[in-house]
Amino acid sequence: MQKDIYPLQKDIYWVGVIDQTLGVFDITEFTEFGSTYNAYLVVGSEKSAIIDTAKVNFSEDFLAKIESIIPLSKIDYLVLNHTEPDHSGSVQTLLEKNPHLTVISSAPGLSNLKEIVNLPFHSIRAKEDLEISLGDKTLTFSLQPNLHWPDTMFTYIPETHALFTCDFFGAHYAYEGVVSSVMKNADEYIGAMKYYFECLMTPFKKDVHRALDWIESKEVSFVGTSHGAVIDDRFLDQAKALYRAWAEIPARNEIPMIAIPYTSVYGYTRQMLPYVVKGVQEAFEGKVQVEVYDLVETTREDVIQAIRQSDGFLIGSTTILGDAVKPVWDLLTSLNPQIDGGKPAGVFGSYGWSGEGVKYVQDRLGQLKMKTVEPFRIRFQPSTEQLEECVAYGKSFGEFVKNQLN
Ligand code: FEO
Repeated sequence: MQKDIYPLQKDIYWVGVIDQTLGVFDITEFTEFGSTYNAYLVVGSEKSAIIDTAKVNFSEDFLAKIESIIPLSKIDYLVLNHTEPDHSGSVQTLLEKNPHLTVISSAPGLSNLKEIVNLPFHSIRAKEDLEISLGDKTLTFSLQPNLHWPDTMFTYIPETHALFTCDFFGAHYAYEGVVSSVMKNADEYIGAMKYYFECLMTPFKKDVHRALDWIESKEVSFVGTSHGAVIDDRFLDQAKALYRAWAEIPARNEIPMIAIPYTSVYGYTRQMLPYVVKGVQEAFEGKVQVEVYDLVETTREDVIQAIRQSDGFLIGSTTILGDAVKPVWDLLTSLNPQIDGGKPAGVFGSYGWSGEGVKYVQDRLGQLKMKTVEPFRIRFQPSTEQLEECVAYGKSFGEFVKNQLN
């Protein structure tokens, strides 16, 4: 059983748990340094509050830490800055032990929690003007949706300038020192923080800037994150600068760029390519950059990068045995509607038997919430007339992109 607690300020304690063994988080995030589930106990002169909880398999350790300071029955409030189960996982046990507890969370947070604990509970909906007095300390709240869930909010104690931001500024890093000022492997930690940012915050860059503006309007003595180190004042300016840099929104391309990743089994889809490119160039009167990638010869990361930088993209897709081929699917399942959606996109290709590949790729582009044009396909080798149709197809796609850019 983990026993350590850590006093951050008078009567404000870190009561989180450390998971050294975590290797993968939320299925997709690799956590080579393990992680922590940070939670906090605030003991006021009149009332007490817990801020966030631990993942369900650490409930016993987490609750034991609190009970080493104060009986659970004496806790008045549970603040949930975010209800993803790595932070709400101990709530059910906590409510069973103290059913008088009042949960404070955003409206989406309370709605989520109802379906997570399946128990009745007292609640207060957090709002910007809500103040909860603990006696000598006050809990105030800032709604920060999309960082990284719609429910996310920050909690701030104006008397001590303590700020609690849950995943914002977090990192999967099993760190026993608790506070950032005694961190020995700063470069390694910043690497973990950057990876965490890329996994969670990349789709929400505008929201990141809004949150940083809000934080900069406050005096902050430390930031209680939900994973990794508590960021104290010696690292805070650097953390803010790193987040500003990572959340930079790329400038618009000076010359429009169209990416065309493709596969071609017999060379027929490849024969279509220069004609499609010609059509795109005609639409832009030559003032366009067209980048073509053979998906068999190019790394997926390079193609994803090109698509993200592009103003629109076309997939050239063959069909084998009634389906698009694996390199195409690997690419399309690496894109995400929230991160990548909204771009002009289309699909074309040659097929031999029944030609499902183009149709299925078109469906996937719809799932990705791309702005699609009609698909275009031909059977086996393009004829002279069909090559002219390729030019027309490329031109109509180019004009579609141009209209989106205007
Ligand atoms: Fe650490 Fe979004 O939960």
